[in-house]
Amino acid sequence: MGFGNGIMRIGRVELRVLDLEKSVEYYTKVIGMEETGRSDGRVYLKAWDEYDHHSLILKQADHPGLDHFAFKVKNDVVLKDLEKKVEQFGCTTSRISYGTRLAEGQAVHFVLPTGHHVELYYEVERLGTKTGSLNPHPWPLDAHGIAPHRLDHVLLTGDDLKTVTRFFMEVLGFRQSEKITTVDGEELIGSFLFTTNKAHDLAFIKGPDSKLHHVAFYVESIHDVYKAADILTMYNVPTEVTPTRHGITQGQTIYFFDPSGNRNEAFASGYITYEDFPTITWTEDKIGQGIFYHRRELIESFVKALT
Ligand SMILES: [Fe+2]
Repeated sequence: MGFGNGIMRIGRVELRVLDLEKSVEYYTKVIGMEETGRSDGRVYLKAWDEYDHHSLILKQADHPGLDHFAFKVKNDVVLKDLEKKVEQFGCTTSRISYGTRLAEGQAVHFVLPTGHHVELYYEVERLGTKTGSLNPHPWPLDAHGIAPHRLDHVLLTGDDLKTVTRFFMEVLGFRQSEKITTVDGEELIGSFLFTTNKAHDLAFIKGPDSKLHHVAFYVESIHDVYKAADILTMYNVPTEVTPTRHGITQGQTIYFFDPSGNRNEAFASGYITYEDFPTITWTEDKIGQGIFYHRRELIESFVKALT
């Protein structure tokens, strides 16, 4: 856990997909996740280095995008405390009952000021990592595809970034690692937030409410980002941005699309943060460099393709 707010990490993302079987094939073969269960029309998956039952849920739908994402909290005390704080902020909460999701207990659901659906939970079955926890090897010999260690972060779009940032910082106890503002500093057009010691656990950029920009999976190094690029070409997966570095977070990255058009990222490195990390500011005139450090300009699809 980062710093006493009791929120350990982004634990899961549920994506809407247009063709469930084609998507399962993509997330298992190309991304290299493992299917851990099926229930109620949903498929549950985890990455090899994750020990909880799942971090990705796929659900068939007639339009792609983010159904919801969820944070794993420390225990029931934290869950109840945060539930109260979310209510006090003015967001209506509801309880997702035990067993609604495969291998999970209760969750608290609410909707962000940006329209995204979020849940908090703490009970989930543990399957263990693929390499185990006794004298483990560094990676599994039968890893395939991009084989990320884990789910890393989501980037979402929304209109009122000041309010959603205030919500995460004041109500849920997140910190802000970076922000993008207009040159005069008046408007917030990007906000990068963390609850662990990562550079970001989630981020928002200015845009339409309720939309997903991308879901990112963590790989170890720039070499793994290049290997991901090779694998994407081998499988003929549409790649949006070939390997480069972010100015923001300083991580290495490649962007590509799942079969439904949901953007994925393989993300490596990035600096680490502490509770007292001083927020970095990027001004709008340098946003190209902030996002794509080498190219120094945005590409049109990166701004427009949302699900
Ligand atoms: Fe990202």
